[in-house]
Amino acid sequence: MQETKLWINGQWEAAERTYDLASPYSGEIIAKVAKANVQDVERAIEGAHEAFQSFKKMAAYDRAEILYNVVTIMRERKQELAEILAKEAAKPISAGLVEIDRTIATYQFSAEATKQSTGETVPMDAAPGVTDRLGYTKRVPLGVISAITPFNFPFNLVAHKVGPAVAAGNTIVLKPATQTPLSALVLAEIFKEAGLPDGCLQIVTGSGGELGDILVTHPLIKKVTFTGSGAVGLKMKEKVGLRRITLELGSNAAVIVEPSTPLEKMIPRAVSGAFNFAGQVCISLQRIYVHQSIYDEFVEKFVAETKKLRLGDPMNSETDVSAMIHPHEVERIKSWIEDAKAKGAVVATGAEFTERTLTPTVMTHVTADMRIVCEETFAPIVSIVSYETLDEAISLVNDTELGLNVGIYTNVLTDAMRAADELEAGAVIINDIPTFRVDHMPYGGVKMSGYGKEGIKYALEEMTHLKFITMKTVF
Ligand code: SIN
Repeated sequence: MQETKLWINGQWEAAERTYDLASPYSGEIIAKVAKANVQDVERAIEGAHEAFQSFKKMAAYDRAEILYNVVTIMRERKQELAEILAKEAAKPISAGLVEIDRTIATYQFSAEATKQSTGETVPMDAAPGVTDRLGYTKRVPLGVISAITPFNFPFNLVAHKVGPAVAAGNTIVLKPATQTPLSALVLAEIFKEAGLPDGCLQIVTGSGGELGDILVTHPLIKKVTFTGSGAVGLKMKEKVGLRRITLELGSNAAVIVEPSTPLEKMIPRAVSGAFNFAGQVCISLQRIYVHQSIYDEFVEKFVAETKKLRLGDPMNSETDVSAMIHPHEVERIKSWIEDAKAKGAVVATGAEFTERTLTPTVMTHVTADMRIVCEETFAPIVSIVSYETLDEAISLVNDTELGLNVGIYTNVLTDAMRAADELEAGAVIINDIPTFRVDHMPYGGVKMSGYGKEGIKYALEEMTHLKFITMKTVF
């Protein structure tokens, strides 16, 4: 059985304790994972601080080369990396391969961004009486960044933190999700081979609030970047003080389906947006608002398409949906479905449980106060609701504490533009599902869905100081 260690200062170090990592699909123990203690994390932070002193001076060209090397190595190891996702996260292998392709793109965008990070000249003589002065800005790295990452995209959401951090010249202490340490640890080898100096990427595995606290409050940490639950993100925000922080939190992503929507194209896309990786995606399609004139047809076709999905072993290339990340997550969503049913919701298909799985579930007759509607389900479940007017649909979409991506399908330009203005979200996706994301676009929510932006260029800005320099050019 695989036994893992901590990756600190370019060395593998055994931890005093380990924990058992179980396959979400079979329950079988697949690894004994090093459990860092507070001293381990402190050493990792101090080592990253030390490494920063020379890494901040490395030329942009050389940092970009390291990231391009990562791209090359990942391309060569694609299948093996996707299999790690299937093993530790129960991500179906087909979805895993897509994630690896996206990860490669994320590192490639980071390599390109390394060379494109620029400042600007400031026209100093725009102020009255100021002459003979040059003024300009440049972006400088912050120092040590702590990155705390989730289980749902163990390669790509790590890449969204590590890629721009390296691009900017920062060093990183990475703490991956407890359930997905193996995909993070393989990066140690990849970045070493790519030429990243020791100490620039430290990887500490384990669990417990005290590790999170150190990563947020240690004096040498200059920025925290976290993807995960709103409750945890909010606590971090309270503790972080004057350090920078980026929070990518949850959502209950919605789409509006106007009568002009081509259902034969939209429905297969929406089904994949709702059930990809068993709905454990922050922008998973969770709420569908359909104009009443096409509601019955929509529900019938959506249910038929959902029934085609194959539930099974993540290693099987035919599998669409596999186990949820942990049996207690299955229990949680079961109780939310029971609660909704007790309040009048109807199961149109699905809602069949095993200890580890939930069949793709479609609910109707839901109301805005039900947990499956107003909270993030993070499970293979979607609700379909009928509306009469676009005003009503927009207000139903906005009637939530969350707001990451939302979508609207319409061929009426003025309606699309009105929705773009009035929908409360980090991004409005017109004529596609809210699950749409490519890795260079700005990504980050409003309301309780987050704070700050990812997407390489935007993350890089948040991972640098804008430094201003001025010089008197004539004495
Ligand atoms: C997320 O779950 O936050 C990321 C979704 C994505 O990158 O597609």
